[in-house]
Amino acid sequence: MFSYRHAYHAGNHADVLKHFVQVQLHQYMNQKDTAYTYIDTHSGAGVYALDSAQAVKSGEYLEGIARLWERDDLPAPLADYVKLVRAMNPSGRLRYYPGSPYVAEQVARPEDRLRLFELHPADTRLLVENFRKLEAHKAEQGERSRGRRILIEHADGFQALKSLLPPPSRRALVLIDPPYEVKLDYKHVRDRPRRSPRTVPVRHLRGLVPGAAAHGVAPVCRPPEAPAGQGMAARDPDAWRRRGRTARACTAAACSS
Ligand SMILES: C[S@@+](CC[C@H](N)C(=O)[O-])C[C@H]1O[C@@H](n2cnc3c(N)ncnc32)[C@H](O)[C@@H]1O
Repeated sequence: MFSYRHAYHAGNHADVLKHFVQVQLHQYMNQKDTAYTYIDTHSGAGVYALDSAQAVKSGEYLEGIARLWERDDLPAPLADYVKLVRAMNPSGRLRYYPGSPYVAEQVARPEDRLRLFELHPADTRLLVENFRKLEAHKAEQGERSRGRRILIEHADGFQALKSLLPPPSRRALVLIDPPYEVKLDYKHVRDRPRRSPRTVPVRHLRGLVPGAAAHGVAPVCRPPEAPAGQGMAARDPDAWRRRGRTARACTAAACSS
């Protein structure tokens, strides 16, 4: 427990897929006037520096956001997501990458609420600090604070979800994105949304990614196909598994094919 740090994986191909879909979901929810609650059961640190020791060591973002960064021929929905990443890198150099809480903060409307949960003590501190800086920056720009719009808790997101549903407006967007460090994560991911009140339209990312369903992705699945000599998955599938390429990466890999 707690060996997973998302800083090693920020901006990789799985993050790109996840955050692209997240932007689409917010845009969908934004179509109705009624405010909604965004619940992020596994928030991570919120913002990641791609020149940090962790990101540089894994280099995973090079096969993710870095491949889209220079493109000016992206389809409109993908361009919306890349625009969001560009907005947090005004110098034009890809240095910062938004985590799911930051994506929500940017795309949800001022009247929507954000409930963010994170269990790792260090990442909770980073999450709080990142949002403190964001609020300070907004205040400098003359933006009025929205009080309790964003609540961050150092708590188990699976447990918290039960008590938050249904939210007052009866509209919720829920992102469940565990690290699958413990076997129970698989069970919780499968069970939690089903146990939630039926009156709330709970959106569960894995269920929403059409490619994942079409490819029949299992919790721990085969490495993605790759042409001979291209990548660890093709050269040495066992090593690929040992490196922890589990459900999220597999889901994304299946979908990107
Ligand atoms: C895959 S990362 C989240 C990434 C984030 N959703 C994003 O897209 O930027 C998973 C996070 O869940 C945290 N975590 C693990 N178990 C948790 C639990 N039961 N409740 C809340 N957070 C948990 C880990 O510390 C890690 O930061």
